Amino acid sequence: MERKYWEKIAPSYEEEIFDVLREDKQQLIRKAIEARASAGHQVLDAGCAVGKWLPVLSPLFRSVTAVDISSKNLSAAAAKYPGLKNISYQRADFSSAHTVFKGFDMAICINAILSDSMTKRERFFDQLSKAVKKNGFLILVVPALESWLLSRTIQKHYRIDQALFRSKITDTEAAKRYANLQQGNVEIDDVATKHYLGDELKLTLARNGFELQEQHKVEYDWHTEFVAPPSWLKEPKPFDWLNVCRRR
Ligand SMILES: C[S@@+](CC[C@H](N)C(=O)[O-])C[C@H]1O[C@@H](n2cnc3c(N)ncnc32)[C@H](O)[C@@H]1O
Repeated sequence: MERKYWEKIAPSYEEEIFDVLREDKQQLIRKAIEARASAGHQVLDAGCAVGKWLPVLSPLFRSVTAVDISSKNLSAAAAKYPGLKNISYQRADFSSAHTVFKGFDMAICINAILSDSMTKRERFFDQLSKAVKKNGFLILVVPALESWLLSRTIQKHYRIDQALFRSKITDTEAAKRYANLQQGNVEIDDVATKHYLGDELKLTLARNGFELQEQHKVEYDWHTEFVAPPSWLKEPKPFDWLNVCRRR
């Protein structure tokens, strides 16, 4: 997932990209932010896209730094919220070795570390680690590999949305996907997208200087995965991983 992918998708962002804020019906993420926010503190929204979280962050913090790799997304965010005066917008690539943000009391990073490149993901985690002050917080949300497998297993078993799931792929494509799967990169709308195991996150966060204080499933309705989920399909639900971390 390169900058050009996010720039290309920007005009149709609202239709194409999953809205975590809207679908987190229990508001677990909002509550995790609110519980640790302070009116004198500075927050970083890493991968803010069109700024869904800015109306949540702006009243809770002294200042908000909204950063994204896509200038089109940033323009859309700035145009949407002219009334929020404590926000500064910056275009930057958290997967670059050179971008360094420092001194934040909190960083939120919600479904932004999705690259299928291990190097890019490592740099992104490193940048977050440098951005957050000692004892500051990171609120990290990422797609769950467990949830992706659950959805696929249920889809196959109960033949849900059968016409939408291609049954055959070429040997070359299969080999590529198998290699990707071993890194947790699985297809979303045919784009290899990093998904994380809960235990993998514990390790990654610890190695980047974060103490994982809480890990929760952010659960969604099955309509977010399937066009026509059967009416009996309620629990378990598909989910992302919410990680509440403290910088050591
Ligand atoms: C799925 S959107 C999530 C947006 C937002 N956090 C939300 O919850 O609504 C992912 C965003 O991360 C941004 N992004 C991806 N890789 C990035 C990087 N290396 N540096 C900065 N932003 C990045 C993309 O441009 C995109 O806007």
